[in-house]
Amino acid sequence: MIRLQNIEKVYRTDTVETLAVNGISLDVAKGEFLSIMGPSGCGKSTLLNIMGLLDEPSKGIIRIDDQDVSKFSDQQLAKFRNKKLGFIFQSYHLINDLQVIDNVELPLLYRASSAKERKDLATEALEKVGLSNRLRHFPNQLSGGQRQRVAIARAIVGKPQIILADEPTGNLDSAMGNEIMEILINLNKNDGTTIIMVTHDENMAHKTHRLVRLFDGSQVV
Ligand SMILES: Nc1ncnc2c1ncn2[C@@H]1O[C@H](COP(=O)(O)OP(=O)(O)OP(=O)(O)O)[C@@H](O)[C@H]1O
Ligand SMILES: [Mg+2]
Repeated sequence: MIRLQNIEKVYRTDTVETLAVNGISLDVAKGEFLSIMGPSGCGKSTLLNIMGLLDEPSKGIIRIDDQDVSKFSDQQLAKFRNKKLGFIFQSYHLINDLQVIDNVELPLLYRASSAKERKDLATEALEKVGLSNRLRHFPNQLSGGQRQRVAIARAIVGKPQIILADEPTGNLDSAMGNEIMEILINLNKNDGTTIIMVTHDENMAHKTHRLVRLFDGSQVV
């Protein structure tokens, strides 16, 4: 599903050069649930953002669904990302001025779907995460776990084949974290969604199919 070949990422400023990702090659199979662990600053988010086509590598090749995405134009990339990928971040990244249902509909605005279809799909996604009773709330009227569930609904509303999650349980207590984890496990099992999750939590990582450990930008296991 995803093939990374010798990916390198260097961040350059006037004074410093940081090698954030140092020659990573990784295959993620369709339907796999992969977790990524490693100390702070070892390149986990950078690697996830590269896999999610939010950031470009300095070197190396990325293939998603057997397509070499480095050849895509910006417009093709945006379209591909919107259709194939869903993102979940540690800090939710919701829009506070929009009600829950409108937050979840956002990814669909870039597609040719009707207002009715968008609403139905958003309602369905919110049902999946157990938030049918909060459609008209605003994000700041929700608990952390509920906000993260809204973010998951937004990530899955377009039925992406791949979900990329950067510490999705990092801001939650363990009970809420386990609930979020259950939702991800069910998406993977029932819908066959490929999931790549960065986590600091060994317990969460051990619930996934495979664990990759990074250190200083390189894969160690
Ligand atoms: N925009 C940037 N410019 C310069 N250096 C950066 C930039 N983004 C990240 N880095 C550097 O790249 C390295 C990897 O960062 P990254 O955010 O991928 O780490 P991480 O493993 O996700 O850490 P954490 O667990 O703290 O989230 C770090 O040393 C960081 O300082
Ligand atoms: Mg990070």
